[in-house]
Formats: sequence, structure tokens, C-alpha cells
Amino acid sequence: MKVEKVVLENFRNYTSQEITFREGLNVICGNNAMGKTNLMESIFIAAIGRSPRTKNDKDLIKMGENKAYIHLSLEKKFRAHKINVEIDRSEGKTVNVDGAKISRLGELIGLLTVVYFSPDELKMIKEAPQERRRFMDMSLSQESKPYYVALSKYTNLLAQRNKLMKTTDFAEFTTTVFIWETQMADVAADIILKRREFIEKIGKSADKYHRSIAGENEDITLLYEPCVEGETREELKAALLAKLEESHEKDYELGYTTVGVHREDFNITSKGIDLRKFGSQGQQRTAALVIKLAEIEYYHAESGEKPVLLLDDVLSELDEKRRTALLQATQGTQTFISCTEFTENVSDYHKIVIKDGTVVG
Ligand SMILES: Nc1ncnc2c1ncn2[C@@H]1O[C@H](COP(=O)(O)OP(=O)(O)OP(=O)(O)O)[C@@H](O)[C@H]1O
Ligand SMILES: [Mg+2]
Repeated sequence: MKVEKVVLENFRNYTSQEITFREGLNVICGNNAMGKTNLMESIFIAAIGRSPRTKNDKDLIKMGENKAYIHLSLEKKFRAHKINVEIDRSEGKTVNVDGAKISRLGELIGLLTVVYFSPDELKMIKEAPQERRRFMDMSLSQESKPYYVALSKYTNLLAQRNKLMKTTDFAEFTTTVFIWETQMADVAADIILKRREFIEKIGKSADKYHRSIAGENEDITLLYEPCVEGETREELKAALLAKLEESHEKDYELGYTTVGVHREDFNITSKGIDLRKFGSQGQQRTAALVIKLAEIEYYHAESGEKPVLLLDDVLSELDEKRRTALLQATQGTQTFISCTEFTENVSDYHKIVIKDGTVVG
């Protein structure tokens, strides 16, 4: 798929700017603090419905203004779409797809699929499990509507279970919680099956990229760490239900749910070494890179379309071999690269120069 055009109005440091892109490589150049990341962010928001940088939508509105707009024109294999995001200081955020207002962000997600890579994404490798779950959830929600729905349901049910612990005595909790737990186990089984398949698939392709970048003997292995074991959907469901029941006392005492898909993780190793804990900066960066490349391949295989790749400030952090591998692997994918200076040995790219929120070249 291809982002054809973005129009920004009172978004971050942009006043009113139309920017047209092309297939393949789009290089967004400019000095520091000119608006490169802001532009990447606007594309991300049109895809996911929220910013990768802030939870507060008001931050997105140009200071001193009341309303910001992002208008994005998207071309997919079979048809074109228009995504409009309006952020109003008092009314909040409204999203329109092809002229119709959507009522839930779940209706937006998956229309424009993005793979986003910034230095911040190293968190996915080295920080707490939450970051890796965020990665799985974001990727899978874009690719699969049923996954997004299952995850939203699970999150709601989990909140209900936690609330019950705080509002009832133990005896009542153990007798009433069954209603939530049965439903939780039911949707969790779908989530586990999908995560298992995802990690297995991207693990294989990340390994392939890793060997070609780091050396034939340099493996990378991703291993999903599910909250319960089981082959089939029914087995997983029964296992989780049993575990939830077993943890009544402990959970009630702690005041939160200690088992479930909201506690899962996946392990990333190379030559048997856990990169989450023991990887060098370079190893972790390479791991993040190959996982992102694998993510592109995954979307392509699942949907028949390539996602849009957003690379914010990552080139300067990679050595030449990795930069070359990255640019090679992104051929045929619409890619946005932001940098202060583009010195790569590629000729076929579209350069956009930004100065103070204005395209100047
Ligand atoms: N809501 C806002 N209103 C006005 N200006 C803003 C707003 N939010 C951010 N900015 C400004 O936008 C400018 C550009 O930010 P951006 O992060 O896009 O820079 P950049 O070009 O990516 O720079 P760098 O090379 O340092 O990463 C910054 O000076 C920032 O202060
Ligand atoms: Mg930036």
C-alpha cells in the first residue's frame, strides 16, 4: 500500500502543509527540530488512531490553536481511501474514513498498516515484558480484526475481575468471578493461538535476516512464553480457567490478576544468550531491526499487501552493513526515512526537505 498524500493543519509545528509521497523510498531531511518526527507521527496516527509519543491528544495541536487536522490519502491494491483525523482542544478526537465518522478506533486499525521503527523501539528488546506484548498486540491488531476484538474483550473482562476483588468480600468473589473467568479463558485461547503463530512466523524470518546481516552462524530465536500450555483451543481454555481458579486467594490478597495473557512475554536469544538481559547495544539494535523486517514480511504474507515502513532516526544508529541490508530489504515497500543528512549510496529516492514545519524542497 502507499500513502499518496498527507495534509497537515495546525498539527504540531505545521500550520498548513500538503506533502505528496511516492512509492519506494521517501527521505525526509531537515535539521533538528524542524518537523521530521512530527510528519512520521501524523502517518502513524492515521494508521493507529493515536500517537506513538504521547497519550495526550492535545499535545498534537499546534500551540495557540484549537483544532488540528491530518488528512491522509491512501492507495491500496483494490481501492483508495481517505483518512481524516480531527483533534479539537475541547471536543477531543474524531476520525473519518472515506467521509464516514467511525465510532471506535477498532474500525480504523488495519486500513493503513504501518511498521514503525525509531530508536525508542529498542525498548521492545530490553525493557519489561509489557513492551514486547505491546509489539505483539500492535502488530496483530493491525493484521487481524478478530485479534483486536478478542484483545479488547479480554482487557474489559480483566478489569471486571480486578474490580470485583476490590468491591466484594472473598467468599462472594470466589462465587461470582466464574462468569468473568469463563469468558476470559475463552477469548484468551484465541489470543494465545494467534500470538504463538505470529512469534513462530516472525521468528523464522527474523532468523533469516539476522544470519544475512550478522553472519551465517549468528542465529536469532524468538520463543513465545504463553501463560498456559496446550495444543488446541479447548486445552488452552481449560488450562487457563484452572489457573485462574487456583490463583483466587493469591490474587485477592494482592488485588490484581496474576495469570493470563496480560502477563505473557517472548524470549529473544542468540547462541543461547538472552538478548533481553545480556545483549550488547549493537546486538539489541540488530535484533530490533530484524524483527521489524520480519514484521513487514509477515503482513505481506498474511494480507498480500506490503505495509508502510516508518524509520525515524534509525539510520544514524546502524553501521554500514546494517544500513545496506535495511535498504535492500525495504525494496518494494513504501518507506519513510527521516534523517539530518542522507548519505546512502542509493539513487532512486524522493527527497523532502523540511524547515520549521514547511516543505522547502
Ligand atoms: N503542539 C506543538 N505546537 C507547536 N510546536 C510543536 C508542538 N509539538 C512539537 N512542536 C515542535 O515541533 C518541532 C519539531 O519537532 P520534531 O520532533 O518533528 O523534530 P525533528 O525534525 O524530528 O527533529 P530531530 O532531528 O531533533 O529529531 C520541535 O521544535 C517541537 O518543539
Ligand atoms: Mg525527530
